[in-house]
Amino acid sequence: MCGIVGYIGTKEASGILLEGLRKLEYRGYDSAGIATVLEGEIHCVRAKGKLHNLEEKLVGETNPARLGIAHTRWATHGKPEEYNAHPHMDMAKRIAVIQNGIIENYRELREELKSRGCEFRSDTDTEVIPHLIAEELSKAEQVAEEPLIEAVRQVVRKLRGAFAIAVICADYPDELIVARQQAPVVLGFGEGEFYCASDTPALIPYTRAILNLENGELARMTPLGVEIYSFGGQRLKKAPRTLDVNPVMVEKQGFKHYMLKEIYEQPGVVRSCLEAYVNSAWTSADHKNSPIRFDLPQSWYRNLQHVQIVACGTSWHAGLVGKYLLEQLADVPTTIHYASEFRYAPAPLVPHTLTIGVTQSGETADTLAALEMEKARRDNKSEEFEARLLGITNRPESSLGQLVSNIIDTHAGIEIGVAATKTFVAQLMAFYALAIDIAFHRQTIAAQQIEALLTGLSQLPAQIELILESQERYIEELAHDFAETQDFIFLGRGINFPIALEGALKLKEISYIHAEGYPAGEMKHGPIALLDAKVPVVAIAMPGPVFEKVLSNAQEARARDARLIGVTPMDEQDAADTFDTLIPVPHIDEILSPILTVIPLQLLAYHIAARRGLDVDQPRNLAKSVTVE
Ligand code: F6R
Repeated sequence: MCGIVGYIGTKEASGILLEGLRKLEYRGYDSAGIATVLEGEIHCVRAKGKLHNLEEKLVGETNPARLGIAHTRWATHGKPEEYNAHPHMDMAKRIAVIQNGIIENYRELREELKSRGCEFRSDTDTEVIPHLIAEELSKAEQVAEEPLIEAVRQVVRKLRGAFAIAVICADYPDELIVARQQAPVVLGFGEGEFYCASDTPALIPYTRAILNLENGELARMTPLGVEIYSFGGQRLKKAPRTLDVNPVMVEKQGFKHYMLKEIYEQPGVVRSCLEAYVNSAWTSADHKNSPIRFDLPQSWYRNLQHVQIVACGTSWHAGLVGKYLLEQLADVPTTIHYASEFRYAPAPLVPHTLTIGVTQSGETADTLAALEMEKARRDNKSEEFEARLLGITNRPESSLGQLVSNIIDTHAGIEIGVAATKTFVAQLMAFYALAIDIAFHRQTIAAQQIEALLTGLSQLPAQIELILESQERYIEELAHDFAETQDFIFLGRGINFPIALEGALKLKEISYIHAEGYPAGEMKHGPIALLDAKVPVVAIAMPGPVFEKVLSNAQEARARDARLIGVTPMDEQDAADTFDTLIPVPHIDEILSPILTVIPLQLLAYHIAARRGLDVDQPRNLAKSVTVE
């Protein structure tokens, strides 16, 4: 949450910084601000609301500054008002700071600063930082060779919490200082120019040479180069790596919204996952080698007694599908936990447990903390209790990648729309492959069944394409009927229950319509009281053991006058007789169906939100990367 970006070099900083903010706006859009060093002064402009408000304020301004920082905010401490917008400055307005994260001990620091005569201009936690740096700088100038980084180093050692900061000072017009503690920041290397940002999309237009700053590290960036230090003051040797990303991936490419583009990218994402995960030469005659190329430590498969999954939001829904797959295919008892709950109330330790953290961004604070906690509490335990941590992420270079040594990369490409779509489908692919891999090693299903599953998975891209081609227009028209609807219910059972939850979450977050996902059989235990002619019910009914049960549950809703929309295969007469409206999907083995059934629900949420004229890619109050608790 919050995006930070910084530039030092030979070009005009402001354009680069604004372009960077555009790429990071998905991280928060409550306010935006920019500070540059110009003619020995800090020039700071801030605006409440989205970035275009800041851009409007800057129209007509020429700013040749070659050093600057900029911020897009997701409010934590203090209302989304201009006076709380970053950058924040010290009393003399010589130092400007931007921050992503939360300074947990800001209250005591603020009181201390106030007692020393410091006056605050905002309600934020961040403002303590420039004031503290100002104090430390006057001391460092007496003793240190590089006073600005020394002052920042002294200050970060006083801060508690998770933060990434960038600092400039009018008295040091050739320095940009960056520090990281539990919040992402990546450095970009150009020819005589250097960048920092919360995420790579802000850097991709300028450089592919990047370096992820790690926890407890500071960088001093000048036009001559970048020096990295630990918070302890030790100089560290680090080299940038080359990022393999095509800049086209972060543009809309003619789609009205990133979300729609990302929905349409899903066939390609499934293909990429298949290419990366599956050994296509494998046959059921091969009993020695797994068809899946995950290369997890062999010891992990031995005696595997329990899998526990920690995640948040949409990733939690993917984990719920994963639980179903791991239990039904690989026969491993699996528990799933909201990371925010697990970290403060962990389940008792079970021996031979595999812990999976699922996070597309790899930066979700609760998921990272849950994994860290799990690692710590298994430390120094006997071998049977040792920590076996696996991450499933779309950003292997993220904080998750630094925390966990075994990673499944979901290969979805950068996702810009705040509502997760293609990364969800990619997480499902990771769980299919993982469940098959573990099932192979544990010999819980026949080789022919594995072969059938792999064939089924290979058909998914074409089937998703078929849904997109045949249903998008229809769903767009259907969405007209629901532009004024206030409540929705989504029903599913078995492996499609998580998809009902996901359909409801997508609708809630981008259309602001109240929606609930339920296991269809649970309706009659209470929620059915909500139903009347004004509440549409979307039911996922895929042939399999619970098909008829779902149709019966749908009939119960119909008897209460609810309008029934069925996501169900073409040519299923019973379903056609049950539902008022059908959104057909191809016939498929029920266990593979979530990857198809979620597509119409994504499109429905998208078109209802677009019909309501809402900002689909940047829904209110949300941020894509939730780096605070
Ligand atoms: C919903 C959505 C969120 C995220 C959640 C976890 O569309 O995007 O619910 O799924 O914030 O984020 P990650 O997967 O980055 O840990």
